[in-house]
Amino acid sequence: MRTAVIRRVTFNAAHRLFRADWSEERNREVFGLCSNPNYHGHNYTLFVRVTGDIDPETGYVLDLKVLKDIISEEVTGPFDHSNLNLDRPEFANLNPTAENIARVAWQKIRKRLPDHMDLQIRLSETDNNFVEYPA
Ligand code: NI
Repeated sequence: MRTAVIRRVTFNAAHRLFRADWSEERNREVFGLCSNPNYHGHNYTLFVRVTGDIDPETGYVLDLKVLKDIISEEVTGPFDHSNLNLDRPEFANLNPTAENIARVAWQKIRKRLPDHMDLQIRLSETDNNFVEYPA
């Protein structure tokens, strides 16, 4: 009966990849254009995958309306049209790479789900690059 339900959402956000404890040169060397001091934006696509048993009474693993509201409250509401580095305390001391954004989204959504459900996040920054957490 173990079944996955998946919701796809999009949001737009600006970020800059850099470490404050590194020089501009080192940041540029490692992060390239992504370390542009004036930030840049992405159209992110987030896939939220929840796995659980089908409830024999409702036929649902999880009401997707409930999942939609959780994602909106925890991730897309706070992150959409934000500058992740400047506006979001989650990234005050955390480089906002796709990897870290996916992990933060997982942490925020995970705490809203029952323990018996599993959660996986897939995040894409471009059509060709995805990250998944947990792997
Ligand atoms: Ni970027």
